[in-house]
Amino acid sequence: MKIIAANWKLNKSPQQARDFFKTFKEKYKGSSGQKVLFFPPAVSLEATSQSLSGTALGFGFQNISAENSGAFTGENSASMGLELGARYALVGHSERRAIFGESSLLIHKKLKNLLAIGVTPIHCVGETLEDRDQGRTEEVIKKQIESELIGVTQNADLILAYEPVWAIGTGRVASLQQIAEVHSFIHGLCPTASILYGGSVKPDNSKDILKVKFVDGLLIGGASLEVDSLLKICESVAE
Ligand code: PGA
Repeated sequence: MKIIAANWKLNKSPQQARDFFKTFKEKYKGSSGQKVLFFPPAVSLEATSQSLSGTALGFGFQNISAENSGAFTGENSASMGLELGARYALVGHSERRAIFGESSLLIHKKLKNLLAIGVTPIHCVGETLEDRDQGRTEEVIKKQIESELIGVTQNADLILAYEPVWAIGTGRVASLQQIAEVHSFIHGLCPTASILYGGSVKPDNSKDILKVKFVDGLLIGGASLEVDSLLKICESVAE
């Protein structure tokens, strides 16, 4: 089973999400070998929930609080999202780490809470270009995984995403060999987790990336915003 996760980032209002899903549902044929998940902005989750009700398509938060309720102005809670059917959440995306200063401790708290309440996290890890140039890729990823997943029971519900920071939104995709090396390394650390690749995935490279050993799916930003481009990627899984 391959996972195709669409990270819309700060794109698509509720109405734009409804329009997207209307067309997507008309064209998407579905396949037992894949699970498609959508990560819209939180403000569009209810529209997403309504649009996807009764389908096999899943959805979740791009970011959530480590807390379930209380005096945390501006936060969104995964436990409240369950009411809408949001069963997944991205955690530790490099934009959250770099732009919003999320620490490994906070990421750890989020992962722990999500698993405790039955929401599946997609835990994003990856090295910067500087890390890679200095030969520190494995060290950085090992540190992220160990410090963020410490004490977290590893079971099949855990999904990791390898996202080299230098490949996100840059059009610069990691080579198949680089992907194979890091996925094999992560598999060694977390043998039961599914591992997605993310970073400039497009319809013309998705098929090859999906063939790499230990690549269990894709996390797609820019190329998930257009129905046709996302559909092409979904079709490449089925081939
Ligand atoms: P991209 O983003 O596909 O636009 O590179 C991937 C991501 O940030 O998850």
